[in-house]
Amino acid sequence: MKTKTKTTIAVLGATGMVGSRVVTEAGARGHQVLALSRKPARDTPRDPRVTPVAVDANDSHAIREALAGAASHSPADAVVVALRTVPVDEEFLVGATRTVLDVAARLGIRVLVVGGAGALRSPGDRDLLVADNPAYVPAGIRSVAAAGIAQLRACQSHTDADCVYLSPPALLEPGERTGRYRLGTDTLLTGADGLSRISAEDLAVAVVDALETPGTDPLITVVHAEHPSA
Ligand SMILES: NC(=O)c1ccc[n+]([C@@H]2O[C@H](COP(=O)([O-])OP(=O)(O)OC[C@H]3O[C@@H](n4cnc5c(N)ncnc54)[C@H](OP(=O)(O)O)[C@@H]3O)[C@@H](O)[C@H]2O)c1
Repeated sequence: MKTKTKTTIAVLGATGMVGSRVVTEAGARGHQVLALSRKPARDTPRDPRVTPVAVDANDSHAIREALAGAASHSPADAVVVALRTVPVDEEFLVGATRTVLDVAARLGIRVLVVGGAGALRSPGDRDLLVADNPAYVPAGIRSVAAAGIAQLRACQSHTDADCVYLSPPALLEPGERTGRYRLGTDTLLTGADGLSRISAEDLAVAVVDALETPGTDPLITVVHAEHPSA
């Protein structure tokens, strides 16, 4: 991603809350986008920069084909993983992530995984993961947080892949695109109002920024900021 300004970004989970906003943000910045999901959205106004591609993330062959390029589209320069299942399926999440990491390592492309806040350390208590902190993760969603941590471990243990794992703040919901956020590494961030939150639109801004200007931290997080960062 460093040498080209306009690139081809694949988004796995392109129809989801996060993925759809990453597709919009990347397309608006002039990137080509491969929008990958099982049921590609076909009813939305067609952006010529966005190519919907039907891919089941259980199918490693389909992932390889989609990322390597085909007659209908260019190969990807980077891939964003924004997968979620209800109920949570840790085995699927980790398996699909490993497949993407394997393929991306072979193709030499960067991977950005949008994971969960549970993988972060608690503010004020570095030894307590957010996943184990009832102030952020009630018992009913601990399995979701645990799956996110397993996904992070899959990234960390894949030594051949160039991967960054983006943990959202505690609250991530559709909202406004302000373009204002603060970046952190392994600890949950809170804003001036004490809230750990960001809109999915601003998270998408951070995702595309991280692809356009890659940093060196393998684990990053973001939070909404009232003022643009210096
Ligand atoms: N505060 C937090 O920590 C927080 C909050 C929200 C979300 N998140 C994380 O953000 C990420 C994205 O979540 P989201 O809310 O955007 O999820 P979502 O809206 O439920 O979307 C999930 C996406 O995954 C795709 N998908 C599911 N199974 C698939 C399969 N077998 N093959 C291909 N695609 C598949 C779906 O596409 P199809 O069904 O069309 O195939 C859809 O595009 C997840 O890691 C989630 O945990 C974190």
